[in-house]
Amino acid sequence: MSPRLCVIPGDGIGQEVVPVAVAVLQRLLPDLTLVEAEAGWECFQRHGVAVPEVTLQAMRNCGAGLFGAVSSPSHQVPGYRSAILTLRQQLGLNVNLRPVRSWPQVSPKVGIDLLILRENSEGLYSGREHWQEEGVAIAERVISRTASQRLAECAAQVAAQRQARRITLVHKANVLPLTCGLFRDTCRAHLEAQGWRDVVDERLVDVAALQLVAQPETFDLIVTSNLFGDILSDLACHWSGGLGLAPSLNWGNGLALAEPVHGSAPDIVGSGRANPLAAILSIALLLRHHWQREDLAERLERAVADFLREEWRDDLAGDTTRVVSEGVLARIG
Ligand code: NAI
Ligand code: MG
Repeated sequence: MSPRLCVIPGDGIGQEVVPVAVAVLQRLLPDLTLVEAEAGWECFQRHGVAVPEVTLQAMRNCGAGLFGAVSSPSHQVPGYRSAILTLRQQLGLNVNLRPVRSWPQVSPKVGIDLLILRENSEGLYSGREHWQEEGVAIAERVISRTASQRLAECAAQVAAQRQARRITLVHKANVLPLTCGLFRDTCRAHLEAQGWRDVVDERLVDVAALQLVAQPETFDLIVTSNLFGDILSDLACHWSGGLGLAPSLNWGNGLALAEPVHGSAPDIVGSGRANPLAAILSIALLLRHHWQREDLAERLERAVADFLREEWRDDLAGDTTRVVSEGVLARIG
């Protein structure tokens, strides 16, 4: 059967970068079938729901999707819950892969090639937040053996694929011995049983943050829980060249949803400044990890590297989306 892609542009610059990434994928997979679907804040305002059931069904039917970004109000809106969190939880996209590597021209440092594997469905993002009493709000941090085990299984698979020289479990078990302890012990047991005993290492999250700044090249595969992974991956993507170059893949349950790490960037919407490389590089993750097309993933990443080396300038400004789009497409051939 020909590959199918569920396309969810979402809000803001999601609608600007997703068409570029789709065009790139169509060059690589000419028999691709596209299925458009809605989600996000604008969708909520139109239909009263941020992720309609038809969108979830479309994702399940396609197996693979590309999500742009959504806007979320920073105050509570009755009935609204972040679309991407809903998609991750409803579809069982239990793991988030966030690679960070040096690119020509745009990265502040050479020689970095690390991958952050982030638990994607629980932790502090499990949606269990409530008022205990006036003036005291509670957020529950949920860690389960099942989700930690699924993350560890994915880690073992990815470690084999990239022949990991080091796997770092990042936690805060000295302060959170139950939740972080369960997370750490479950991941460690599985990885050791899979033959990674000599490679598995661990770091407290605060120390890991410092080392990601001071010695990023010493990391290879980082395995961590939801909030820690969210923060560390934004920090680490500085080494790729910033949010405009930070891709991710939500993965699990036989499904995969590619997603640039950045948000809807309301400050640059409509200005032509949105960099589509994060979305384009997210497509490479879909090709590599979901469709098992390492050949096409490498071809795409080579086109991106060549474009950056030969054509990238820091003053692209309002021409960014167009120049990147044309430059990458031209190099894919
Ligand atoms: P943001 O990622 O949208 O923007 C942060 C800064 O980076 C802005 O200055 C923006 O212009 C710049 N930027 C982001 N992506 C860029 C790109 N591709 N090219 C060039 N510049 C880029 O984060 P912010 O401003 O904190 O949030 C804006 C909205 O996005 C909020 O409503 C937030 O809830 C939502 N958001 C959604 C996410 C998602 O859908 N996964 C993730 C993060 C934020
Ligand atoms: Mg984030």
